[in-house]
Amino acid sequence: SAAEKGGYDYFMLKEIAEQPKAVADTLLGRIDGSGSLSLDEVRIPVSVLREVDKVVIVACGTAYHAGMIAKLAIEHWTRIPCETELASEFRYRDPILDQRTLVVAISQSGETMDTLMALRHAREQGAKVLAICNTNGSTIPRESDAVLYTHAGPEVAVASTKAFLTQLVACYLVALYLGQVRGTKWGDEIEAVIRELSDIAGAVDTVLETMEPVRELARSLAHKDTVLFLGRHVGYPVALEGALKLKELAYMHAEGFAAGELKHGPIALIEQDLPVVVVVPSPRGRSVLHDKIVSNIQEIRARGARTIVIAEEGDHAVVPYADHLIRIPATPTLLQPLVATVPLQVFACELATARGNEVDQPRNLAKSVTVE
Ligand code: G6P
Repeated sequence: SAAEKGGYDYFMLKEIAEQPKAVADTLLGRIDGSGSLSLDEVRIPVSVLREVDKVVIVACGTAYHAGMIAKLAIEHWTRIPCETELASEFRYRDPILDQRTLVVAISQSGETMDTLMALRHAREQGAKVLAICNTNGSTIPRESDAVLYTHAGPEVAVASTKAFLTQLVACYLVALYLGQVRGTKWGDEIEAVIRELSDIAGAVDTVLETMEPVRELARSLAHKDTVLFLGRHVGYPVALEGALKLKELAYMHAEGFAAGELKHGPIALIEQDLPVVVVVPSPRGRSVLHDKIVSNIQEIRARGARTIVIAEEGDHAVVPYADHLIRIPATPTLLQPLVATVPLQVFACELATARGNEVDQPRNLAKSVTVE
């Protein structure tokens, strides 16, 4: 009913709007007064976490994209090798797992069969499994050694939005916590990022307040057949997520690429007026990547692409090459997906509406897939 949708036309719009609160709720009580993480609720003893020598993340769909970002955060802040794998592929390749492997299973519903089968396989091999889940008491957390719940609240729209942002928050918490309990050379950075994370809900809110031009742009592209997405580092999974949202909601051909791969094939797709969304890394931090992406934007624009550039506030280098510029607040490099994903959700939702599609219940899809 309209009341359930809180005055919004679709659950998806309501859930997009709820993201600042969902993010804040997921952080609540997990950062103590001294700015350290307290994750006692994760019932894997610190002594075990200190011995972990490999992390494997398994998930499906949007949760898998959160897992791709988690890999970068975990490896950076802990120096533990980490791989992220599609849950549906995982157990069929005889993965190497033992008592020192920490498997992180990410699932909004906690009922996705592929993810469940992956974690069962991991536990049979002796690995410890930590679930990141949004649904209390669901099967995946019940069958795991430990759980870190995301506090997004119920997500009704099939296309995941607020659950994704809170999965990211939970992944950052796990990465930072592992770094904290194991002690790494990144101690100061970990402290600084925990501080930034406490303010990140405000940054998400800022993005939401500036989305009208994104909606207008989406309506103007409603007749297009294809949209491409480019990103690097954490921006690559964001590009994949932007493309997934367009497939799910707008039924458009959409693909995400790692920007560095452009020259190895995808650039052949560029033609006059093809919309290409580019997620630009911060010019601070890994500035080499920033400069490389700016060259990519120049290259595709020279070949006729219509560039839709998502870039940090104050990044002037992109301005001459952006046909459309979407600004996001400055964040630490690894946290950027929390703000960069939001315009892509709004973009997909508005495009779906403009094309007359059913936003909350896209054709052929289910909110949770309980078969393999
Ligand atoms: C389904 C949904 C996706 C979701 C995926 C994983 O395919 O349509 O939106 O990302 O399942 O769901 P989970 O509940 O495990 O996060």
